[in-house]
Amino acid sequence: MTDGFTRERAWALLQEWTASPSLVKHGLAVEACTRAYGVMEAARLGLAGAEASECIELYAIAGLLHDFDYDRHPSLEEHPFVGVRFLREQGWPEPVLHAILAHADYSGTPRESHLDRALFASDELAGFLTACALVKPSKSIHEVEVAGVKKKMKDKAFARAVKREDISDGAALLGLSVEEHIANCLKAMQDRAEELGLAG
Ligand SMILES: [Fe+2]
Ligand SMILES: [Fe+2]
Repeated sequence: MTDGFTRERAWALLQEWTASPSLVKHGLAVEACTRAYGVMEAARLGLAGAEASECIELYAIAGLLHDFDYDRHPSLEEHPFVGVRFLREQGWPEPVLHAILAHADYSGTPRESHLDRALFASDELAGFLTACALVKPSKSIHEVEVAGVKKKMKDKAFARAVKREDISDGAALLGLSVEEHIANCLKAMQDRAEELGLAG
């Protein structure tokens, strides 16, 4: 399904289009989360071997590329439409394009697949978990805990740009409690702390 459209190519594309280091890290953080949900979904579907890898890679690619056009085309008129048009011309898999469109509330594309829901659910939470790590004196995500994240969600002054309801709606879309969703994404990001610049 992903023939030629690999995680490696998505990573190259993200870097080519994105000058902002924090936006590149955001792509990686969301990838960590969506990949974790891809692993769970592949297991739920009973996939193994190449089929499982392909499923997981779709999730990873969607996470990496969901904001790849944002640096160049941040307006509501262009993001993520310009990026998706480009990806479609290149022939990237349709489930990835659908998920990227559906991550934007204003796109009019409904969240249908598990991948659509996982991407939406991971986007705001990855940003929030990054903010939670960066306020630690160590700036380490290893010091972030689920209970602390929940507390920060209630603190309206903290990371004000992150919509709390997107996090709780995202968890609900995945059939998870907010705590479970936070725990999944936190673990996924902790596993890649070094790469995300959040190892302390
Ligand atoms: Fe976006
Ligand atoms: Fe994003």
